[in-house]
Amino acid sequence: SSRSFHIPSKPPPPPNFAFAFDIDGVLLRGSTPLPGASRSLRYLQDNGIPFILLTNGGGKTEAQRVSDLSRHLNVPIDVDMFVQSHTPFKQLVNGDEGFPRLKDECILVLGGQGNECRDVAEGYGFTQVLTPADIITAYPALWPLANHSLYTAHARPILHKLGRPLRIAAILVFHDPRDWALDIQIVTDLLLSENGVLGTVSPQNGNPTLPNDGWQQDGQPTVYFSNPDVVWASEYHMDRLGQGAFLQALAGTFNAIAGRRTKPGGFERILFGKPTAKTFVFAERKLEAHRQTLLASSGGEEKTRPSKLENVYMIGDNPASDILGANKHQSPSGTTWPSILVKTGVFKSGMPEYVPNAMVPDVTAAVSWALKESG
Ligand code: G3P
Ligand code: MG
Repeated sequence: SSRSFHIPSKPPPPPNFAFAFDIDGVLLRGSTPLPGASRSLRYLQDNGIPFILLTNGGGKTEAQRVSDLSRHLNVPIDVDMFVQSHTPFKQLVNGDEGFPRLKDECILVLGGQGNECRDVAEGYGFTQVLTPADIITAYPALWPLANHSLYTAHARPILHKLGRPLRIAAILVFHDPRDWALDIQIVTDLLLSENGVLGTVSPQNGNPTLPNDGWQQDGQPTVYFSNPDVVWASEYHMDRLGQGAFLQALAGTFNAIAGRRTKPGGFERILFGKPTAKTFVFAERKLEAHRQTLLASSGGEEKTRPSKLENVYMIGDNPASDILGANKHQSPSGTTWPSILVKTGVFKSGMPEYVPNAMVPDVTAAVSWALKESG
């Protein structure tokens, strides 16, 4: 019979659950896909199940990263399904969510190769972006051991308003710094400065007789970190130092210099990245928006479409980052984030510091567990 096959012109509506994949140690080791990574993502895409990639990595624009990831994983990844360490820094441009508005403030951007992080920051909308290369080129004696040839190619002249001191309002660590010594020298100078002016020392901070609460009340810049990971899983078989290790090196140096004049917790810092709530709230909002676009472009009866996102399965390799973040996430819309720990990255065996909803060998087993759970 000439039965006509009805080929749905539109994909089925997405279900009431979705996935969030960590990258390093779950999908990739360096740029090499882990077994089952590409197949798992492609299966979800072929079945209209939404997912985002949620990484503490960074250092390039989102467009550059998703282009690299699509190539390495052989799966089309779009920027609306991608959150990296510094993506939530966009909220600091216009002061969303109660954050300060830093759009036209002079900020120091740390991390990454050459001017890649400055390019990312300017792409977000920051208009006065300095880097350590600018500073060491403008003030060569600031760090006696500097290898200036590393910096002159990327440095920009510091055009601060004539007659006005160069004041840095905030320090944003977009990615892992390459020259920790230079960056720590500049940051500790600023944390001890008068009102964020490079090359000055605040009389308050120079005066140990002042009560501790005098510390950092005269306008030193706050340091914003985009990734607290002390270690991460790269191509090497042993965990490698991450941006959180730089934070510890900075904190140790700063406390050694500032001594008892610092507040008990040391310098003012604000953390982004997994496991912080800021990043999980930001990621859930992005995933929901992505899911709405899938809903809008899907077929099916209006009434059969599960409108609410009930569960997001977080698949990660680092208990202190992926599992802790999902376990403690308070979703504004009541969505739960069951956590699934794989053994292909930072975590290898034994009992993890933060207990996931499931512990499985790899990403394929993680997706299978979640699909079974979701019914
Ligand atoms: O620098 C990247 C590292 O800190 C961890 O990345 O993808 O495992 O969150 P990821
Ligand atoms: Mg990881």
